[in-house]
Amino acid sequence: MQTSSQHHISQENHVKIGPSILSADFGKLNEEVATVDEYADFIHADVMDGHFVPNLTFGAPVVAKLQSKLPVECHLMISEPEKYVEDFVKAGAWMITIHVEACSEKTGEVLEQIRGLGVKVGLSLNPGTKVEEIEPYLDMVDMVLVMTVEPGFGGQSFMHECLNKIKWVREKKPNLAICVDGGVKDDTAKLCVEAGANMLVAGSYIFGAEDRKEAIESLRG
Ligand code: DX5
Ligand code: ZN
Repeated sequence: MQTSSQHHISQENHVKIGPSILSADFGKLNEEVATVDEYADFIHADVMDGHFVPNLTFGAPVVAKLQSKLPVECHLMISEPEKYVEDFVKAGAWMITIHVEACSEKTGEVLEQIRGLGVKVGLSLNPGTKVEEIEPYLDMVDMVLVMTVEPGFGGQSFMHECLNKIKWVREKKPNLAICVDGGVKDDTAKLCVEAGANMLVAGSYIFGAEDRKEAIESLRG
């Protein structure tokens, strides 16, 4: 993987699309990545520990072997992320996103740890978490990742009640990157962008499509 300092999150007019490799065929991961690499803006890597979420995926060694020219955002759905963030930085992560629910009182410390390692900092919240929970950290992060499904599995339905969180963050922070993850398809993507999102993650919608370029472009609206 390339080093990521060239990649910046900015307020360009086009919405940035991150295919979630959770819905790719893990047996041929780099071939799958190659089908989206030309068209997407970043790769979203879902890391699950069977504890914070009821599913398991992969760790830093898999991220290290990803062949992509795109920046890789690692979405850590794991307990005690502070123990692993350094491994993901070494593996080439461009951004590390942790969950506000995963580190109890230590969220601020872990965000600082990630910043100190020289990568972009993301903070996510589950559908059941009040958006006010992330308010103390908004000045410490490069991106908020709003979950619009219960984390753990791809292919679930978009939870419309989470749209208000996007609006809330956008009102508080006009220039912050806001990403949406879960149930994002052409129709729900539009709602997310209208609410103020400028980054979208999609797994089953992109990797389930025959024409992945078309799927990615349809999300940009
Ligand atoms: C769910 C993951 C998502 C997932 C989204 O826990 O965080 O990134 O891959 O999958 P879709 O787009 O199929 O809802
Ligand atoms: Zn994710």
